[in-house]
Amino acid sequence: MNNAEIIQRTERLIESQFRSEGSGHDWFHVDRVRKMALRIGKYEGCDLFVVEMAALLHDLDDWKLTEAESQTGSKTKEWLDEIGIKSELALHILRITEEVSFKGAGIDTPVQSTEAAVVQDADRLDAIGAIGIARTFTYGGHKSRLIYDPSVSPVMHDDFQKYKNSTAPTINHFYEKLLLLKNRMNTETAKVIAEQRHQFMNDYLTQFYEEWEAIR
Ligand code: NI
Repeated sequence: MNNAEIIQRTERLIESQFRSEGSGHDWFHVDRVRKMALRIGKYEGCDLFVVEMAALLHDLDDWKLTEAESQTGSKTKEWLDEIGIKSELALHILRITEEVSFKGAGIDTPVQSTEAAVVQDADRLDAIGAIGIARTFTYGGHKSRLIYDPSVSPVMHDDFQKYKNSTAPTINHFYEKLLLLKNRMNTETAKVIAEQRHQFMNDYLTQFYEEWEAIR
């Protein structure tokens, strides 16, 4: 099987698995991450096949979407075995999918390759800006969270389990994650894109609070 066929088959697998995902991690999220990863990847001189495969597979074993306590990468690994990718490349792709996730404000999530840096940036860009706002409220609704509760302050989590089990209102998530992402981009290309999306979220929050207080 050539690379184009491998991509196409992987795309079909992910599209069928994520088509009706209701927490903001649907197929279109994966497809946007793939497009953005390829856009950034072109400037980083990296292996675009690895980037595209890792982007397509990055949420298949995500801790937010699976019941498992620890991420094992089992579905991803099975698929890479099944599709017959050389073991060295498969390991690289698998490692990227394990490195992508945000785990709390105080927890470092370093990447070990340029390809991982690119996919992590693309995934994080989809968490901010207009789409990021939409996805955040979708995820909050999926978890039965309030939109906002002024009596609950944001928490800068330095413990992954606590971050994972948080039941805080969705607005808090802006402070616990979204507004931090601009400074956690790896590549220069992503930093520029993040800057504009970050500003858009700040403007959004300003208007949100004004509407909340019936000022605007
Ligand atoms: Ni994702």
